[in-house]
Amino acid sequence: MRADNGQAGEYLITLVKLAPSILSADFGRLREQLSEAEGAGAHLIHVDVMDGHFVPNITIGPVVVEAVRKYTSLPLDVHLMISDADKYIEAFARAGADYLTIHVEAVSDVRKTCGLIRQAGPRPGIAFNPETPVREVETFLADVDMVTVMSVNPGFGGQSFIQSSIEKVREVRRILDERGLTAALEVDGGVTRENAADVVAAGAHILVAGAAVFGGGDIAGNIHRVLAVLSGAQYSGTRVDLG
Ligand code: DX5
Ligand code: ZN
Repeated sequence: MRADNGQAGEYLITLVKLAPSILSADFGRLREQLSEAEGAGAHLIHVDVMDGHFVPNITIGPVVVEAVRKYTSLPLDVHLMISDADKYIEAFARAGADYLTIHVEAVSDVRKTCGLIRQAGPRPGIAFNPETPVREVETFLADVDMVTVMSVNPGFGGQSFIQSSIEKVREVRRILDERGLTAALEVDGGVTRENAADVVAAGAHILVAGAAVFGGGDIAGNIHRVLAVLSGAQYSGTRVDLG
C-alpha cells in the first residue's frame, strides 16, 4: 500500500509496536508472565530460537513455541538464530509462528527460504547483524513482511544497545519508503525506555525488548513505561499505511 497521498507524504507513525522477548522471562512461570505481558498491552511476543551453532547459545525450539501459542493470543514473532533454517520451517509453522525471521548471514538462498516460509504459512522476515551492511539485505526487502535490524550481536539478552544501529534503521526506513514497501521494520537488542524514542524517530515501528520487560521488577509496569515512551515518540517521514 502506498502512502495515502500516493507520493512522499509527511505523516506521523500511528502505532509503534512492542514485542517483549521471552528470552529474559522466567521459564518456570512463562504462562503467567505471558498473560501479564499481554494484559499490559504488548503487541507481539518475540521468541528467540538459538542453536548453539549460528550463535554461541542454545535456547528453545518448536515445542516451546507450541506452549507459548497456547497461552497468548498475541502474534508470535519467532526469531531463528540457527543454521539450516530450511529444515525447521515446517516445525515452527506448525508450532504457531506468525512471523518467522531468518538471518541473512545464516542461509545460502534468502529468497528461497523466505518463499518456503510463506508457503508454510508464517510471514517471512530477515534479520541482519550489526556488522552486516544494509546493502546485504536491500535486495530482499520486497520479499519479506519484516526486516529486523539487530542492535546487539545475537546470542544473549540484556546486552547494551549498539548506537550505530540507529543509522542503519534510518537507511532501511529510507529504502522502504522510497520503494513503497510495507515490510515492518523491527529493532532487536538492548532497547530500553531510554533509547526507544530515538529508535522510533529513526523509523522503526516494532521494538523488541527482553530485559527491559522481563529482566526484573513488575512486568506490567515495565511495559507501561516503555509504551508511554512509544506513544510520545514520533516519526515523521514518508510511510506506507501499515494499518
Ligand atoms: C538477542 C535476541 C534479542 C534479545 C533481546 O540475540 O535476538 O531478541 O533477546 O533482549 P534485550 O532486549 O534484553 O536485548
Ligand atoms: Zn531476537
